[in-house]
Amino acid sequence: MSVRVVLGAQWGDEGKAKVVDYLTAQADVVVRFQGGANAGHTIKAGDLEFIFHLIPAGIVHQDKSCVIGNGVVLDPAALFKEIEDLDARGISVAGRLFIGQNTHLVMPYHKRLEQANEERIGAGAIGTTLRGIGPAYVDKINRSTGIRVGDLLDAEVLPEKIRANIREKNEILTRIYGVEGLEEAPVIEHHMALGERLAPFVTDTSVYLNEAIDNGKNILFEGSQGALLDIDHGTYPYVTSSNTTAGGACTGSGVGPTKIDEVIGVVKAYTTRVGNGPFPTELNDEVGQRIRDIGHEYGATTGRPRRCGWLDAVIVRMAARVNGLSSMAVTRLDILDELESLNICTHYISKGKRLDHFPGNLKILEGCEPVYETCPGWQTPTSGVRRWDDLPDNAKRYLDRISELTRTPISLVSVGPDREETIVIE
Ligand code: IMP
Repeated sequence: MSVRVVLGAQWGDEGKAKVVDYLTAQADVVVRFQGGANAGHTIKAGDLEFIFHLIPAGIVHQDKSCVIGNGVVLDPAALFKEIEDLDARGISVAGRLFIGQNTHLVMPYHKRLEQANEERIGAGAIGTTLRGIGPAYVDKINRSTGIRVGDLLDAEVLPEKIRANIREKNEILTRIYGVEGLEEAPVIEHHMALGERLAPFVTDTSVYLNEAIDNGKNILFEGSQGALLDIDHGTYPYVTSSNTTAGGACTGSGVGPTKIDEVIGVVKAYTTRVGNGPFPTELNDEVGQRIRDIGHEYGATTGRPRRCGWLDAVIVRMAARVNGLSSMAVTRLDILDELESLNICTHYISKGKRLDHFPGNLKILEGCEPVYETCPGWQTPTSGVRRWDDLPDNAKRYLDRISELTRTPISLVSVGPDREETIVIE
C-alpha cells in the first residue's frame, strides 16, 4: 500500500501529468485536491494526446478510479465537456469517477467577476486563467455565499442560493465594474439540469479514500499549479487561490497527514511561468525564446506564451522545504539537449547580501539578483535514454548539481512526453 503526492515545485506546467500518468500504473485511485479548470494537464498515450483540466489524468487508465476532492472548485459545465470528450474517444468514466459532496462550485458569475476585476486592474493584474477560480474560493471562504456540489443536488436549496448570489453579484458587476449582470432563471435552470447529471458521481470522498487506504489500495494525489503559486507560500499576490503544496492534499481530500508515505516534487529542468509576477531567472533574450520554441512553451489552458528562464535552485529549495519532498521528478531534460551551456541559479543577492532562502516579501524578491553557476551542455539527444548510467556525463552532472543544491534526491527523469521516455532511479 502506498499513498503518494505528486505536485509542482515551480510555477506550474512542470510536466506533472506525465509523471502522474507514469506513476498511475502503480496506483488504484488518483485524486485531484485543489484548483479547478485553471489546470491544463497534458499526457500522451501512444498516438493519442489528452489535455485534462478537472478530471485526474489517471482516468485514461480504464481500471483506475478518480476522485475530485473537496479542495477543488468544480465548474460542472467544464467537467461534462471533459466527460463528453473522453466518451468520444472510447473512455467511460461511469462507476469510477467520484466527486466530493462538499466540493465548491465555480458559477458563471465567478468568471464574469474575475474578468471584470482583471480588466479594471489593468497593468498590475494577476494574469489569471479567467476560469473563475479566485472568486469561487472567495465565496467558499465567505461561507454565506458558497455553493457546494451537495447544494446542486438539492432542488429546494439550489434556486435560493443562486438567486441570492446573483442579486449580490449583479450589484457588484453593474455598480462597481459597470458591466452587465446575469439573469437568474437561465442560470437556475441550467444548474438544476447539471445537478441531475452530476448526482451519480457524488459521494463522501473522504470516506471513500480512507476506506480505500484501509483496504490496502494505492493512492496517488495529483497536484495542479506549483509551489510558487501557493496562496500562502508563493509569490503573493501573483498566485492562485488554493494551497498547491502538500498540506493541501490533506485538507483538500479529507485524508490525514499520517497516511501519506511519499511526496514527489516535479521540477522542470528549466523554469517557466505564465501570468504576471516576479521571476528572477527569466530570460528575455534569444536563449529564452529558443527554450520556448524547442519546448513549445505555450499554456495548455489559455495558449499564452510561457515566460522561460534558467533553473532556479532557490525556489526549488523552498518547494522542497514547504512540501517536505521525499524526492524530485525532473522533467523535460531533452528540451535542453542542444544548448552549449546551462546556468543554474544557486542563490540570490539582495542589497549586497547573499540570500539562500526564497524571500517571502515581494519587494525584496523583485530586487534580487540571481547568482549563476554555469554547467557545460551535453549536446546529445537524451530522448532514447532509459537508464541513468546511459545519460551523457554532462547531463548527469547537471542533474546531480540540482539535487545537491536542493538537498533532495532525484527519483525519476523524464526525457520526452511518452510514457516510456522515463528514467527511474532506484
Ligand atoms: P488562476 O489560478 O486562474 O487564478 O491564476 C492565478 C495565477 O496562477 C496566474 O498567474 C496563472 O497563470 C497561474 N496558473 C493557474 N493555473 C496554472 C497552471 O495550471 N499552470 C501554470 N500557471 C497557472
